[in-house]
Amino acid sequence: MTPSENETENRLIIVSNRLPVTIARDKSGQWQVSEGSGGLVTAMAPVLRDRGGLWIGWSGMANGDRETLKNLLDSTTEDTGYRFEPVILTEEEVDHFYKGFSNEILWPLFHDLQTRCNFDPAYWDAYQRVNRKFALCICDIIKARDHIWIHDYHLSLVGRELRELGVYSKIGYFLHIPFPSPDLFFKLPWRFEILKGMLAYDLIGFQTLRDRRNFVQCLHLIYKGIVIRGRGKVLRTQIDGREISIGWFPISIDYEEFAKNAKKDEVRERAETIQKEMNVQHIVLGVDRLDYTKGIPERLAAFELALEQYPELQGNTSLLQLVVPSRVHIPKYMELQEKVEIQISKINGRFGRPGWMPVHYMFRAIDNRELLAFYRAADIAFITPLKDGMNLVAKEYCAANVDGNGVLILSEFAGAKDQLHRGALLVNPYDIKAVAQALRQAVLMDLHQRKMRMQTLRKSIRRQDVYWWVDAFLEAVFVHKLKGFPRLTDHLEQRHLSYRQMESSYRHDE
Ligand code: UDP
Ligand code: G6P
Repeated sequence: MTPSENETENRLIIVSNRLPVTIARDKSGQWQVSEGSGGLVTAMAPVLRDRGGLWIGWSGMANGDRETLKNLLDSTTEDTGYRFEPVILTEEEVDHFYKGFSNEILWPLFHDLQTRCNFDPAYWDAYQRVNRKFALCICDIIKARDHIWIHDYHLSLVGRELRELGVYSKIGYFLHIPFPSPDLFFKLPWRFEILKGMLAYDLIGFQTLRDRRNFVQCLHLIYKGIVIRGRGKVLRTQIDGREISIGWFPISIDYEEFAKNAKKDEVRERAETIQKEMNVQHIVLGVDRLDYTKGIPERLAAFELALEQYPELQGNTSLLQLVVPSRVHIPKYMELQEKVEIQISKINGRFGRPGWMPVHYMFRAIDNRELLAFYRAADIAFITPLKDGMNLVAKEYCAANVDGNGVLILSEFAGAKDQLHRGALLVNPYDIKAVAQALRQAVLMDLHQRKMRMQTLRKSIRRQDVYWWVDAFLEAVFVHKLKGFPRLTDHLEQRHLSYRQMESSYRHDE
């Protein structure tokens, strides 16, 4: 069945800033479609594969011709069972909305790194405009029975824009990154607009209880006397006569798929080759997008300290650090790359010797088979973000650890801590001495302990996998709607500029 034949009732419409693929021209001018990286894509791709539907998002390049993009996207999704709809952003929008407001304001602020924010007022205008653009694009496409699910910090105002366009059906929103405490959130010059804008959704989902608690505290501060009812995962409140649900739903991975693929002979063989080539007793693995929230410099400092304080690790333990390029045009990210590379070369210069390299470093994206082989080859995963919405790498490592003898060192500031704290060695990533000690503890841990801990970790991830997550979220927002939707398209007000009209007016301006 082709995707278009499949468009019957209750299509799932996923809307995120980015599509799960990125389109760019290579050096010879040919179009290249590559897989996107990051937790949002990893989590959502199997969900749509499973259920079918439509994914609306940006292609990753500025401008571009709609038909060319659509053809490229259609050809990559022929076999996937779902379709992509590109939202086209101009260069100015990429600069001000994506790099600016999303990644120089919301991203650092929501990760408690307020000093890295650049509160440029021009970014705010672009943020609102692009949220409107996404809403118009959705309006052009949706059908009465569609389930609309908006994702992440780039699109917190799409719900508000959809309401203004006359869309009254239920809309879910999930924030993949942390929500900060009121002290931090109220530093945002546009805090009221963002908070009130989020209330246009019917369900606002967070990763952890802590994130939801922060959000609820912010609500109490701006709506004096607000009544928030309920206990457990989903709370309810009424604002301006509308019922709004606020829940927490820890995102996860397709556990069975990771475990099944990790068991394949080709992955096992590749893992054995990596082990043979690295030729050490202990492979410690770090896998991160290039991002200052991931705590890579702090981790390297802890690794260096461990080599210094526990010389018995020298010669038999190596760190395999994969850094996936990300947001490389944002100054803070470029600085980070340089910092990490200098630090690694210092460690290797200080401790390395023929036959043993302390840190093996790769700066690129790798394919799934290679990543699984890394997971299988490593007997310790070293995951120490300063703050992270969830951190799927931690869950993937455990799912792929089919031998069941790996050790997970995990930051207490990763959302994944809530589910994995029983089996992991928890660390404060800022306390490099304690992190170095945890590394030594992991290296010395006996097989029985390792197996017990890994069994606990794998069980917890298997029980609450990505399908559990998606069901919990969809049930919380759409459960009443399954019996019959109002005719959504009836409400769309034609007087608003349609998405395509808006897009062609941009092209005209260029
Ligand atoms: N990943 C990837 N390409 C790579 C290495 C990793 O796409 O070369 C994936 C990895 O499998 C994981 C995601 O990137 O699913 C990272 O998600 P995580 O939640 O750990 O962090 P985020 O990048 O979303 O902040
Ligand atoms: C995190 C965010 C995602 C984002 C991803 C990659 O996972 O929560 O929304 O897509 O990072 O970042 P990028 O800026 O490349 O989309």
